[in-house]
Amino acid sequence: MANIRNSEQVMKKKLEGKVAIITGGASGIGKTAARVFAEHGARAVVIVDIQSGNGQSVAKSIGEVCSYVQCDVSDEEQVKSMIEWTARTYGGLDVMFCNVGILSHTPQTVMDLDFSQYDKLMRVNARGTAASVKHAARKMVELGTRGTIICTTSPASTMGGHNLTDYVMSKHAVLGLVRSASMQLGGHGIRVNCVSPSVVITPLAQRMGLATPDDFYTQFGNFTSIKGVHLTLENVAEAVVYLASDDAAFISGHDLKLDGGLLCLPFVMPASTS
Ligand SMILES: NC(=O)c1ccc[n+]([C@@H]2O[C@H](COP(=O)([O-])OP(=O)(O)OC[C@H]3O[C@@H](n4cnc5c(N)ncnc54)[C@H](O)[C@@H]3O)[C@@H](O)[C@H]2O)c1
Repeated sequence: MANIRNSEQVMKKKLEGKVAIITGGASGIGKTAARVFAEHGARAVVIVDIQSGNGQSVAKSIGEVCSYVQCDVSDEEQVKSMIEWTARTYGGLDVMFCNVGILSHTPQTVMDLDFSQYDKLMRVNARGTAASVKHAARKMVELGTRGTIICTTSPASTMGGHNLTDYVMSKHAVLGLVRSASMQLGGHGIRVNCVSPSVVITPLAQRMGLATPDDFYTQFGNFTSIKGVHLTLENVAEAVVYLASDDAAFISGHDLKLDGGLLCLPFVMPASTS
């Protein structure tokens, strides 16, 4: 799969000359997106995270196009300064990938909700994403940039869960943010969309007990229509690149699901009576 992407998709560089920020870029989806953004010709990729060691080594592995900024997205002032720094250092901001998301440490069923964990998760997933969208949008409007903003949501943004109630609630919130922001920012030429990956193997997925693609099939395989293939980090990164690129020039307010048909639950038609 990686070979197909390298030989065919990367030939067309979709982010040539763009300045991009990726929150949560020290690990998982954000880390792969940073590399793929650089391969697509971005002139600056700013990785934002709270894991400075990992963030710096990811930036170093990608090369001089990539830099690391320490920033806790749940702190609005830090988000604002990070965006100011990026625009000042690189002369603009074209793409904002708001990708940070965390899980609580316990299952968080409704009857066992722990509100200190709930508050922390909401502060990062919902408020942190809102602060990132807010200040990216303000900077793009100030600079007159017809930029793009992409958030990472999840099938959990449109479905309920047996547990992870706070996580599911936070992803519903991010989808509402994306839809509202897309309506409010369209007049400035700014597009706002999200990607909803089902499962890709990252530290976050491992904490959900999903350590290999086979674990995904064991839990969800009966509900996907596509068989014999699993979602890769590169698939997610390429979907984000697509939404960030001019190929998606008329797409806004969209939730691009990478779920193998997970949400197309079977509907059995009654037998014909004729
Ligand atoms: N992995 C999956 O299967 C999956 C599926 C659907 C959605 N998602 C979503 O994808 C996004 C990325 O998840 P991932 O799987 O790559 O997880 P990950 O844990 O590998 O990466 C998340 C990154 O966010 C950083 N981070 C956490 N809190 C932060 C904060 N306050 N400020 C700045 N950075 C912070 C972490 O340090 C980490 O580097 C999340 O929003 C997650 O909810 C993941």
